[in-house]
Amino acid sequence: MVIFSGIQPTGRKHLGNYIGAILNYVKGQDKADPAIYCIVDLHGTTVQYDPAELRQRTRETAALLVAAGLDPERCVLFRQGDVQEHSELCWLLSSVTSVGQLNRMHQFRDKAGAARERASAGLLFYPVLMAADVLAYRAHEVPVGEDQREHIELMRDVAEAFNKRFGETLVVPEGNIPTVGARVRDLKEPEKKMSTTGGTDKGRVYVDEDPASIVKKFRGATADSGREIIVADDKPGISNLIEILAVVRDTTPGEIEKAFEGSGYGDFKTAVGEEVAAWLTPTRERFNEIKDDTTEIERFLQVGAEKARAIAAPVLADVREAMGVGPVR
Ligand code: TYM
Repeated sequence: MVIFSGIQPTGRKHLGNYIGAILNYVKGQDKADPAIYCIVDLHGTTVQYDPAELRQRTRETAALLVAAGLDPERCVLFRQGDVQEHSELCWLLSSVTSVGQLNRMHQFRDKAGAARERASAGLLFYPVLMAADVLAYRAHEVPVGEDQREHIELMRDVAEAFNKRFGETLVVPEGNIPTVGARVRDLKEPEKKMSTTGGTDKGRVYVDEDPASIVKKFRGATADSGREIIVADDKPGISNLIEILAVVRDTTPGEIEKAFEGSGYGDFKTAVGEEVAAWLTPTRERFNEIKDDTTEIERFLQVGAEKARAIAAPVLADVREAMGVGPVR
C-alpha cells in the first residue's frame, strides 16, 4: 500500500497541522510501502509570497517533519519542485478537469475572495496540482485533515475521468481523515478552524512554540457558557479542548469527559495547556537542534527527490502513452 501526503511550506506549522495530519504521517511509515511525504513549494507560489522566505520555510517544514518523527531513510520525504513529474502530470490531468469543477472549490472561493477575476490562475489550478501529487505515485491512501475532503473528492473524480477516457492507468485514492482531531479549532474563535492565514494569533498554537506561551494561550481559550466538560454542538470551545487532550493522551473524548467530571473550566484549560506543551516538547527541542543545518536538510531532500522520481517517472510514462503524448514506447 502506498501512502502519499503533502504539506504547504507557507507559515509556521500549528497544532491543527500536527494533530490532523503530521501524527498520521508518522504512523503511516509503519504501514505503507512506501510512505511518501512532500513539501509542496509549488503550491506555495499560488498566493503572494517572498521567494527567499518560501525556500527557507520549505527547509524548515522538512526539519519539522523529521523532528516530529519522519525518518528520511524509512519514508520518501522530498520537495515538490524537485520532481518535475508533478508539474507535467498537472498539465496532462487538466484535460480531464473542468473549469466549473475548479470554480466551485471552496478553498478557491475563500482564498480568491471577492476579487476572483484577479486571483492567479495558479490558485484555480491548485487542486489539479494536488491531484497530480497523489496520482503520480498511484497512492492508495492520503492522510489529511477535514479541510482537504473536497480536494480528495476532486482527485478521485479526476482519476476516474482519466481511466474512463484513456483506459485503466491511475489508482483512485482514498482520504484518511482522523475520527478525532480532524478539525482542530482556533482557541479564541472556536467556530473557525485553527489556520495559518485565518483565525487569530492568540488562538493558534505553534508546534515549536515556547511551553509557557502555549499554556498562556490555552488559559485564554474561549470557554462556552455552562460548566460541564462535555462534547456538544453548542460547546465548540470545550469540545475542541476535549478532542485535543484525547489525542494527546491517546484516548477517547469520552474518557476525557469522565476524567474531568466536576472540574471547572479554568482548571481544565490549564491542564490541557500543560499537557499539550509537554507533549510537543521533544519535537520542539529536536526541531531547534536541526533546523539550521541547511546542508543536511538539502542532502536528505535530494535523496528523497531521487526516490520519488524513480516511482513517478514510470507512472508518467504510462500516462503519456495512454494519452498519445510523445513517441510510442
Ligand atoms: P496544509 O499545508 O494547509 O495543511 C497540512 C495538513 O494539515 C491539515 N490541517 C488541519 N487538520 C486539523 N485541524 C486543522 N485546523 C488543520 N489545519 C490544517 C490539513 O488538512 C493538511 O492535511 N492542500 C494541502 C497540501 C497538499 C496535499 C497534496 C495534501 C498539496 N498536495 C497532496 C495531500 C495530498 C494543504 O494545503 O495542506
